[in-house]
Amino acid sequence: MKRKYILFLLVMFIGFVNSIYPMQQSDNVVTVAREVLSLDKGWRFHQGDIPFPVIKGHAATYENAKAGRASGAAATDYDDSSWRILDLPHDWAIEGRVDSTANLSQGYYHRGFGWYRRQFRLSSEDKGKHLELQFDGIATHATIWVNGTVLHRNWCGYTSMYIDITPYATYGDKVNTIAVRVDADAQEGWWYEGAGIYRHTWLVKRSPLHIVTDGVFAHPVKKGNGQWEIPAEISLYNSGKHSVEGEVEVSLYAPNGSLMETRTTKLTVKALQENIARLQLSVSNPELWSPDTPTLYKVKSVVRQNGKVTDEVTTRCGFRTIRFDKDTGFWLNGENIKIKGVCNHQDHAGVGVAMPDALWEFRLRKLKEMGVNAYRAAHNPTSKEFMALCDSMGIMVLDENRLFNTSPEYVRQLQWLVRRDRNCPSVILWSVFNEEPMQGTENGYEMVRRMCAVVKEMDTTRPVTAAMNGGFFSEYNVSQAVDVGGFNYQIGSYDRFHAQSPELPLISSEDGSAFMVRGEYKTDKSKNIFDSYDSASTGWGATHRRAWKEVATRPWMAGCFYWTGFDYHGEPTPFKWPSVSSFFGIMDLCGFPKSAYYLHQAQWRKDIPVLELIPHWNWPADSVGKPIKVMALNNADKVKLILNGKTISEQQVDPYEMNTWMVPYKPGRLEAVGYKNGKIVSRAKVETTGKPVQVCLTPYRTQLSGDGRDAMPITVEVLDSKGRHVPTANEMVEFTIAGPAKIIGLGNGDPNNHEPEKGNMRSLFNGLAQVIIQSTEETGEIRLTAEVQGLKSHTIIIQSAPAALVPSVAVEKPLMLLDKWIVSPLFRERPDVNCRLEDYDMNSWQPFAGTGTIKLENAQYVLLRTTFVPDRLQQEKGGNILLQQVVGKAEVWLNNRKIGSKMTKRKEDLLVEFPAVKGECDLRVLLTGEINSVVELKGNVMTGGEY
Ligand code: GAL
Repeated sequence: MKRKYILFLLVMFIGFVNSIYPMQQSDNVVTVAREVLSLDKGWRFHQGDIPFPVIKGHAATYENAKAGRASGAAATDYDDSSWRILDLPHDWAIEGRVDSTANLSQGYYHRGFGWYRRQFRLSSEDKGKHLELQFDGIATHATIWVNGTVLHRNWCGYTSMYIDITPYATYGDKVNTIAVRVDADAQEGWWYEGAGIYRHTWLVKRSPLHIVTDGVFAHPVKKGNGQWEIPAEISLYNSGKHSVEGEVEVSLYAPNGSLMETRTTKLTVKALQENIARLQLSVSNPELWSPDTPTLYKVKSVVRQNGKVTDEVTTRCGFRTIRFDKDTGFWLNGENIKIKGVCNHQDHAGVGVAMPDALWEFRLRKLKEMGVNAYRAAHNPTSKEFMALCDSMGIMVLDENRLFNTSPEYVRQLQWLVRRDRNCPSVILWSVFNEEPMQGTENGYEMVRRMCAVVKEMDTTRPVTAAMNGGFFSEYNVSQAVDVGGFNYQIGSYDRFHAQSPELPLISSEDGSAFMVRGEYKTDKSKNIFDSYDSASTGWGATHRRAWKEVATRPWMAGCFYWTGFDYHGEPTPFKWPSVSSFFGIMDLCGFPKSAYYLHQAQWRKDIPVLELIPHWNWPADSVGKPIKVMALNNADKVKLILNGKTISEQQVDPYEMNTWMVPYKPGRLEAVGYKNGKIVSRAKVETTGKPVQVCLTPYRTQLSGDGRDAMPITVEVLDSKGRHVPTANEMVEFTIAGPAKIIGLGNGDPNNHEPEKGNMRSLFNGLAQVIIQSTEETGEIRLTAEVQGLKSHTIIIQSAPAALVPSVAVEKPLMLLDKWIVSPLFRERPDVNCRLEDYDMNSWQPFAGTGTIKLENAQYVLLRTTFVPDRLQQEKGGNILLQQVVGKAEVWLNNRKIGSKMTKRKEDLLVEFPAVKGECDLRVLLTGEINSVVELKGNVMTGGEY
């Protein structure tokens, strides 16, 4: 029989006996290498809220007010054994189904409440280290407890939380418990925000003298004549007991790894205080960072105490200059370039906001290939992994704050954003708001003035903007407080505002909002469908072509951020149910290009020839002879259109409008040829295909890293007998996966589709679907098969390659530790073991919570008491209690029944069984010894698992 037992670790001491104090920390310097450990694995999750127990009665009310005594699902010993086990990042909303009664803005997904719990152990070697728990993002409001004490309340779904858990940590056998209550009914946006702990989570162990999180600021500044300086600021914190002298060394490393310069300085850091080391590095003629050459240098900061290294952080930086000019727009490294940007939210088909980092790489690559050089994180901070990708891939970022508010909590959020991202060469502009009703008022102006000051206090190297959609001409308006004026839409006001405020550089912080559904060529509002000819937009917006033309033809407009690069869940403007995701994307929710993709690519990329023909050429028989609108999206000078070998006509290319023809339909082959300076530079064709005969899977990459994190999208399509993609297919596809990977999401880009985004079935939409797979920590062959009824199936093999695992905090088996005891006064005579304890008596018995010895001074008996609720399994089947290392005779009583005893006095473990029980149990231990002898208890109480 497997034994479940409760094992006591009474790490306690009693004031009136020989106490064992926590070991005095020696004055030796604790010098440990910083350990950054992932806490993503092995969380227990409960969907829905768990009300806190009603607090009634004096004892319970008194307890409730004490540190470490959180109740309900926040308590350390809460029974979570029936909760689901999962890994982060996690978004529970996307696991549900769309429902017409839910909020349209949130994609018709239900959100609600959820709880997460995680236990972990710290070894005795961790004692003395500084311990920080980090959550990179929780949607939306969260309360976080560690070991029964509430340590953080989070009011923003887009900011990180850094929580010092050092004072609350326990070491050795006693596990630490994190409990997180998530309120995702709270909303901060008008788009899909997901629900849960949807970004990474970490435990960071450092020496007492260490660099604080985001504590290095090392952003290069140009001084002239090829000379650059890096005014480095390193913020140190000392969680040790004494003031210390620290030495900080800062070194700059070139992209090839060679050391360029080193500087050192000394400083005093008082106990429990922060101090900043300031050093200056200088460099001549570094390689510059730009979207085309995203060259990154490294700054290594090393902290020493008494010659020993106590912490080390490597930060990346890039050398580049930026300037927004009132007449000529944006300048990067002395070159006048247009910002060709897109706005985006942070969700993807199948995974919602729980985006694997690898999927960001996929998305950013698609954008780069389209010619994007900038990204507006609309309307909130993104993840640090996203920012690192923008730095290394060369994408400039308009970094935006979430809520417009100057109260301390929101100022703290803005400060966090600037502090985290101010080393990123990609960040070229801070935005303090998006479209605020107070933008044209004195109140709004005063708020923006304050928010700008908050930013400038931390970073003077980038200008601040605010994305305004009105109020430009009010007597007071926020454009008077910013460095760069941000226009959201309002094309009709560009010139008037520029004439009125000629000194203010301007950018289109948001434009477009045109509608398109991938693969559709006829607008049918009764079916919530828009065509792909760039023919419609919101009333406030403009078509893709117009939006760009208005920016491109005004030299003083620094550039644009098109709304949006990708479709997103929610905001299905201009429709409602059954539409569940947006229509604005240049790409759909999966990242499949709509025709707008080629339109922007033709307009934004000069380095490659672009030519794409729309529509497909698979029209029904009754279309023969009827005119079909044909469009060539291209960057040539001239385009020739040919149908079935016959030239239709040749057109000059208008780089803004592109080329269109009305062509009487005839099945076959429609071709286009692009010319530049009289030479053929590009060709494109669409062909009438046959019926689908086989499924085809195309992976984004041929290999996954076997690290349990790597992920990739795989394109699903069907082909005709000649191997041609069938653009009109809508078949249902079923997937099977074998080997070291799992399917984490499905999509097809149809904004009107209600199929689940999890599982193993998805229909094609206009020829395409996507399945996203993620590796496990094993290596080997992954086989993914796609089947469609009546067609030939397709299996692909992807290798999961050996990869370094991200160091992680081990997952503990669930256990309950009984460590909340009380101890009676000492007795000469045997007491009544089951004596009644009065609820109001706070004083006769003492709290008892640790390993300890009890001296029976003039006495022979002492009684210990605790209460606990056995876990579900124990309530059903009974369990065990193990008291470890008991010195003295002992009796164990549970709910007024004796369940075991120890007759010897010598040190021994005592294991007792108890029968099936219901609800809270009253546990008492009577320890007996000779007068003036010592009785002792040392051990663990564990429950809920199989040991
Ligand atoms: C803007 C807003 C965006 C989005 C867009 C849709 O006003 O900033 O978040 O709602 O409209 O057109």
